[in-house]
Amino acid sequence: MGILLSVIRYLGSLILDDEEKEKEKPINPVQFFQENNYSGRNNIVENDTTVKSLIVDDEEKEKEKPIFGQSNSDRNNIVECLSGVNDTVKNRAPAKGTTRWITYYSDRHRILLVGEGDFSFSTCLARAFGWAPNMIATSLNPEEFLVKNYENALPNLVELGIRKCKVIHGIDATIMASHKFLGGIKFDRIIFNFPFAGFFSNLSTDAKLRRHRRLVSLFLKNAKQMVSENGEIHISHKTNGVHAEWKLESIASSHGLMLKEAVDFNLHHYPGYNTKRGFGGDDNFNCYPSKTYKFGLK
Ligand SMILES: C[S@@+](CC[C@H](N)C(=O)[O-])C[C@H]1O[C@@H](n2cnc3c(N)ncnc32)[C@H](O)[C@@H]1O
Repeated sequence: MGILLSVIRYLGSLILDDEEKEKEKPINPVQFFQENNYSGRNNIVENDTTVKSLIVDDEEKEKEKPIFGQSNSDRNNIVECLSGVNDTVKNRAPAKGTTRWITYYSDRHRILLVGEGDFSFSTCLARAFGWAPNMIATSLNPEEFLVKNYENALPNLVELGIRKCKVIHGIDATIMASHKFLGGIKFDRIIFNFPFAGFFSNLSTDAKLRRHRRLVSLFLKNAKQMVSENGEIHISHKTNGVHAEWKLESIASSHGLMLKEAVDFNLHHYPGYNTKRGFGGDDNFNCYPSKTYKFGLK
């Protein structure tokens, strides 16, 4: 990740003029939330130190890691990606008082995404906003896995960096509320698209179902601690066949969460989003029929 961040910073510095560079100073998400009167936990200042150490640690670790984005094809991908990003980033600041929306998400929301595949969903949101310092996009898998398995992972990660979306790998949605950084923030939207615990080919259908439901249950338990008072936790999920047996509403209810709404999921509302299976291979899965379930505290 460190090398990737260096590549992002270097390439970003090539495309931004001095004035832009000034605006592009690295953003500390906790500071950003505080400056914008967001209601993080009271111990958020303590976590500010943690955030800094997290970033520094990453940079240190980078030096020891294998280098990504060094092959010609990786570089071509990045450059191609950047050429399209430049204009939108320069025009990113919405006119005062305006808010940019894509479906249920706005650039004013503090958004946490977990279980990302090739980060195409996060990238789609960030593009719609132009500028996404209020988003934190995460994956369970390390960057090595993503870059190896998904052709678009690297360009997406680069683009997210330019749009100032914070990216963290290795985030387990089942324990995320105790994460040293994430646990200190309240989010307006927490999104897990198509949670899936794994294929488990040697397990019975019932045992698989239990694994999937456990993943959703622990995700909701954690998300409940991290969502703002009027915030929402969104899960997009298929509704046919065995997927209907997951019974998301009943899991949420067991954690005291209410289903506010379940709306039909339409992939075309999210340009560039590719639904990934998540456990190797770059194929997209058929996400119809699906719904986006929106849960809240009340
Ligand atoms: C079907 S894939 C969907 C990927 C992506 N959200 C999308 O829509 O393309 C399921 C995802 O859940 C992730 N996942 C499984 N267990 C997880 C956990 N405990 N914490 C976070 N993510 C998890 C996997 O890494 C995988 O990326």
